[in-house]
Amino acid sequence: MGSIFSKAYDRVMKPVEQRRFGKIRKQLVSNQQGTILEIGSGTGANFSYYKNAEKVIAIEPDKSMRELSEKKRSEAAISIELIDATAERLPFEDNTFDVVVGTLVLCSVTDLDQALQEIKRVAKYEAPVLFLEHVRLDQPLVGKLQDVVTPIWKRMCDGCHLNRNTLESIKQNGFRVEQVDEHFKGLFLEIRARNEK
Ligand SMILES: C[S@@+](CC[C@H](N)C(=O)[O-])C[C@H]1O[C@@H](n2cnc3c(N)ncnc32)[C@H](O)[C@@H]1O
Repeated sequence: MGSIFSKAYDRVMKPVEQRRFGKIRKQLVSNQQGTILEIGSGTGANFSYYKNAEKVIAIEPDKSMRELSEKKRSEAAISIELIDATAERLPFEDNTFDVVVGTLVLCSVTDLDQALQEIKRVAKYEAPVLFLEHVRLDQPLVGKLQDVVTPIWKRMCDGCHLNRNTLESIKQNGFRVEQVDEHFKGLFLEIRARNEK
């Protein structure tokens, strides 16, 4: 992500974080235990919500995002290790993690299937795999608009796709989806799945 966008990220997101996302992040991660992998941790928006984990390992490929997350990382209640890596090539052994978390990130990975297969590989059997993602709406007009806007949006927001069928991809890649909560009329989905090997 370009450094202009990364520097603006927290400021742009602040209103929605305060009204909605902060609460969702908290309910998604605060009770999770064991060793947690967070994919594409960005400016560290989830870091303050980890309360019961033994340890969090966060991967983030963008240097400027990693630097911006440093304060939140050092102030977190639990130990967070931050690593330069991409979701498509995770530098971890098979069956390493008790939980995997990804928020607003599957829209941006270059190869969604490869990223999900890597998550599958490094997560333990039956590990919770938790996402907050925006998705393509199943409404002809809005969905079409998301398709039309995506090429420009991708350039502005460093690879973010507005029109991914992320829930379907999660299912197709062999995760068992247990719960889906819709936010903003289904534009954002809070997805709780489990890793089936
Ligand atoms: C919209 S930001 C979301 C950041 C954070 N997860 C959040 O909830 O605020 C998307 C993040 O995904 C990261 N990203 C992009 N491509 C990635 C990839 N292939 N693997 C892992 N992270 C990636 C970006 O660098 C950026 O930090």
